[in-house]
Amino acid sequence: MKIAVMVSGGGTNLQAIIDGINTRSITNTEIVLVYSNNPGAYALERANKAGIKSVCKSPKDYPDRAAFNEALLETLREASPDLIVLAGCLVVIPEIVVREFAGRIINIHPSLIPSFCGTGFYGLKVHEKVLERGAKVSGATVHFVDEGTDTGPIILQKPVMVRSDDTPETLQRRIMEQAEWKILPMAIDLIANNKVSIRNGRVCIDDYDNSVLEQL
Ligand code: GRF
Repeated sequence: MKIAVMVSGGGTNLQAIIDGINTRSITNTEIVLVYSNNPGAYALERANKAGIKSVCKSPKDYPDRAAFNEALLETLREASPDLIVLAGCLVVIPEIVVREFAGRIINIHPSLIPSFCGTGFYGLKVHEKVLERGAKVSGATVHFVDEGTDTGPIILQKPVMVRSDDTPETLQRRIMEQAEWKILPMAIDLIANNKVSIRNGRVCIDDYDNSVLEQL
């Protein structure tokens, strides 16, 4: 399975995917492209070090959003991935991309959807809202991307306990370590090995109870 990974920042989730492929916890998978909207993203450095082709295109480089959206679609078409992985990508994926790659885009979100998600819930803001609300558990979700914001079918989730002394930063870090870096590589491996299907708008995973729950 050829994947394109879309990033905006540090790229620790990208690194978890690269490591997963190298250690064979992700099989049948090759990263054909890393795309970033942000030229300063450390994720680009990680791609470079791993010898993976990367492209940086920012909306700022284009006269308007429509022109950027077309350029983004063209970049993805050229790479022709079987799956697009949004790994901390802050660009809103345009509808033309969602339509062309329908059912073939996944995203990692740092909360347990449907809590703390949707418009305005990105990056540290998610964790700030969790602490403001006094929630005692948070976590991460991998889901398919549809036209809405964080509304597509859920593939995998993992809970992480909130500590009374957490700051948004410590909670973000623990959710990455304990949840995101595990469930994103796992979801890619499951999809690459044809274990994921969507029935009635819900994800079914072959052998979920036996093979997946044990690893989580
Ligand atoms: C992660 O928390 C991801 O869930 C969120 O942005 C962060 C990206 O981190 N959407 P990184 O770039 O993978 O280190």
